[in-house]
Amino acid sequence: MTGGTSFSVEPKHFLQSGIFNQTLRDWHGLNYEISAKNLMYPVFIVEDDNAVQPISSMPGISRFGINKLKEHLQIAVENGLSSVLLFGVIDSLTKDDNASNADSKMNPVIRALPKLRTWFPNLTIACDVCLCPYSSHGHCGILRQDGTIENSASLERISDVALAYAMAGAHIIAPSDMMDGRIGAIKAKLIKNDLGNKVAVLSYAAKFASNFYGPFRDAGKSKPAFGDRKRYQLPPAGAGLALRAAQRDVDEGADMLMVKPGTAYADVLRRIKDAHPDRPMFVYQVSGEYAMILAGAKAGAFKLRPVLMEMLGGLRRAGADVIITYFTPLILEWLKPKNKL
Ligand code: PBG
Repeated sequence: MTGGTSFSVEPKHFLQSGIFNQTLRDWHGLNYEISAKNLMYPVFIVEDDNAVQPISSMPGISRFGINKLKEHLQIAVENGLSSVLLFGVIDSLTKDDNASNADSKMNPVIRALPKLRTWFPNLTIACDVCLCPYSSHGHCGILRQDGTIENSASLERISDVALAYAMAGAHIIAPSDMMDGRIGAIKAKLIKNDLGNKVAVLSYAAKFASNFYGPFRDAGKSKPAFGDRKRYQLPPAGAGLALRAAQRDVDEGADMLMVKPGTAYADVLRRIKDAHPDRPMFVYQVSGEYAMILAGAKAGAFKLRPVLMEMLGGLRRAGADVIITYFTPLILEWLKPKNKL
């Protein structure tokens, strides 16, 4: 054949016409933007008020005494930080079977709460509630003689600790222990003490027995002394269990739900958000995810900022309203008008 072929096929679907400049591209992502309101910052508080203890497995993250935490948070608050998640870490206080120092007067979170409320009146403060950082065995509940969890004793203790944090000034109680019935037990105790409409409950509803918590257990000094947490945290393949856990917690009155970790569980996040669209949905980008992303950037595999923003955008798309991330102060820096890309 001569004369060439005229080859003309009209596409049936037009995508490129909707993305040819940045404004058009931005319109596709308006529901998944990252602003200060979408971020919660986890912090570790220690007993010594003037301590700064860098955590080697989490470069850039330290445990702080309350005075140093004030200086650290000051900058983030100026940059728009709206919420924090507090973790207490003890060294010289005793750890016992009953996790007595989880809610003693000496507990670093109990001591920090009134101060933080005064210093940062617009900051919303959530407290992780768990027994593992304060128990001699390092497990998240109260144990029977044989080392298994005694659920009802655990509920009693965990709801006492939750109430103590609420009375000390926490806006949000975030139980991470994974005991059955804890949301109902905590709600009941808050209501009984006239705190029912002053304190919200954020349930770590779908918390998986993950390999990504390693650096946190360093940071929180909360490694189990024996065994593991597989009898109460969810098995990684257990998406169905995660849905049941979310339903259980909604039925017991959880105000907000969480999936943890993030990246490997984006499908679970989407399914829980779809099942409970009326609850603000949180996802925790945990310590191992933080360490992994930083290490990748440090090794030159990618640039930190675009990769992190892509990952956070992915978590938003998967259904997260709020992302709990150790990167929060850095992201708040990036969000400042002068640092806009
Ligand atoms: C305590 C708790 C853990 C994390 C938050 N609360 C550790 C665990 O369950 O082993 C992990 C957070 C992180 O890895 O950043 N129950």
